[in-house]
Amino acid sequence: MTLWGMLFCLEIGSSSGFLGNLLVVPMDGSHWVGIKAIAQEMGRRGHRVTVVIPEISIRMGPGKYYDTITYPVPYDRDYMDFVMTSHKDILEKSSQPFMEKMKKMFSQIQKITNLLHTTAESLLFNASLISHLAQQNFDAVLTDPMVPTGLIVAHKLGIPTINLLRGVPCSLDMKASGCPSPPSFVPRFFTGYTDRMNFKERVINTLVALLEPLFCRLMFWHFDQIAYDFLEEKVSLEFSCDSVHTRIDFTLEFPRPLMPNVILVGGINCKVRNPLPEQQPISRVVTTT
Ligand SMILES: *[C@@H]1O[C@H](CO)[C@@H](O)[C@H](O)[C@H]1NC(C)=O
Repeated sequence: MTLWGMLFCLEIGSSSGFLGNLLVVPMDGSHWVGIKAIAQEMGRRGHRVTVVIPEISIRMGPGKYYDTITYPVPYDRDYMDFVMTSHKDILEKSSQPFMEKMKKMFSQIQKITNLLHTTAESLLFNASLISHLAQQNFDAVLTDPMVPTGLIVAHKLGIPTINLLRGVPCSLDMKASGCPSPPSFVPRFFTGYTDRMNFKERVINTLVALLEPLFCRLMFWHFDQIAYDFLEEKVSLEFSCDSVHTRIDFTLEFPRPLMPNVILVGGINCKVRNPLPEQQPISRVVTTT
C-alpha cells in the first residue's frame, strides 16, 4: 500500500503523514521527461527523492525538489554528440541504397547499445556509489525499464520497483503481473493490428507472439551478463511480482485485462502547456505562420 501512497495518492501524500524515500534511476532522452515530472512533484510534496544519473547525458540534470547524484562515465560530451548526430543523419538521408542504409543503421544500433551498456556498468560497478545507495534505506526504486539498470539496483537493495514506461519490450510487464495476453485478441507490437483481427491476422499475430521471447533474449543478453556479474547470482531480467507498473494510458492502448499492480496514468506523456492566450485573433496567427 505504501507504493500506492507514494506515487498516486500524491494528493494526500504528505498530509497522510507518510513520507517516502525514493531512488530514481532514469533513462535518458525523451524517457526522462515523465520521470523528471514525477521526481519533482514527489519532492515538492515532501518525500525524499534521489536521482542517480551519469555525468554525461543528453538531457538529464538536477531539479529543484530532488537530490542528484552523478557518476563518472568513460565517454565524453563529444562522443555523445557524435552518436546523436549520426542518428539524425540516418533518419534524414533516405536516398541511400537499401544495403548501405541497413549497414549504417546496424552500426548505429550497436553504438547506442554499447553506450547503454557502458552507462549501466559505470553505475553498477562503482562500488562506493552502490554502497552509498545501500546505506540510504530507500523504500523503492522508480525507474524506466527500457534499460534494466534500475531493476538490477532494486534487486541488490532488496526493494520493489515502480516501472514507468509505456510499451515495455515484449510486454514483460504484462507477463510479470500475470495479465492474460492471448495472441488471438491482444495485438503484438509492430504488427499494426487492432483487437479486431481476421483469421489470417490472428495467425500472424500468434507467430509474432511466439518469436517475441527470442527477440527479448537477444535484446537483453548482455544485460543478463551484467546482472550476473553484479549480483553474483543468476537472475532473469523479468520484473518481480512486487513491482508496480505505470504509464499505460488507455487512450493509447487497446482494451485488455489488467492486474491490480498495473496502474493507468493519463497524460504523463504530455508536456505541461500554458493556457492559450484568450484574445488572440485566429486570423493573425494564420497570417504570421
Ligand atoms: C563512483 O561515483 C562517485 C560519485 O558518485 C565518484 O566520485 C567516484 O569517482 C566513482 N568511482 C569510480 C571508480 O568511478
